[in-house]
Amino acid sequence: MSSSAERRSPDSGTDGDRPLSLLVLISGRGSNLRSIIDAIARGEVAATIGAVVSDRPDAPGLAHARDAGIPRIVVDRKAYPSRDVFESALRATIDERRPDLLVLAGFMRVLGAGFVRAYEGRMINIHPSLLPAFPGLDTHARALAAGAGEHGASVHYVTPEVDGGPVILHGRVPVRPDDDIDSLAARVLAQEHRIYPLVIRWIAEGRLTSRDGTPYFDGRPLSKPLDYAEIRAGAGAEP
Ligand code: GRF
Repeated sequence: MSSSAERRSPDSGTDGDRPLSLLVLISGRGSNLRSIIDAIARGEVAATIGAVVSDRPDAPGLAHARDAGIPRIVVDRKAYPSRDVFESALRATIDERRPDLLVLAGFMRVLGAGFVRAYEGRMINIHPSLLPAFPGLDTHARALAAGAGEHGASVHYVTPEVDGGPVILHGRVPVRPDDDIDSLAARVLAQEHRIYPLVIRWIAEGRLTSRDGTPYFDGRPLSKPLDYAEIRAGAGAEP
């Protein structure tokens, strides 16, 4: 697997104009996968999905891959005696396909440090909160219980600390007085479907890179997460 920068280097031996190759990892519903498939199909993201990998054979999201004609691979966690053996099988599956970028889209396994380090800077995740607020599970319930005035989603590079890697982009939503978990989750999910394809687009365009653990956007280190509303207001042309 090569980084975006290497991919685009004239010395790398790769075709700098070829689309970014993705491997998308899922465990469940796959609505983020669907949003990425759709954004690619609309021509907004210069990428191809080489395969969708699920750790669960019954993940409903696999149907989105099937419908789009994308190869589906199941690496069934239950078929392996330990996390280490499972992750070895997952690494073999990934490395055989040599993707440029690993996209975790509702992949519900905590990955070991060895696995994460193998792909650091080339693996991104989406999380349903404005990280560093509310890492982990049940983020919408926790945001409501905390009386948060706003909530949202984060796209971040994956590091060994769960939900702790450098945040690239925040998509904020208001929390309304009459919100329950479902209404808030739906508002956040709609933002997820906008911000995840956008980050992949930036990586495909070479605008976003990761160097030594620091994200760079348009050549400048990101000292704080980008904000989707500000990006939209500033650029106009961004989706
Ligand atoms: C999303 O809320 C995402 O932020 C989290 O898991 C959920 C996956 O949803 N990591 P889907 O499978 O993409 O519909």
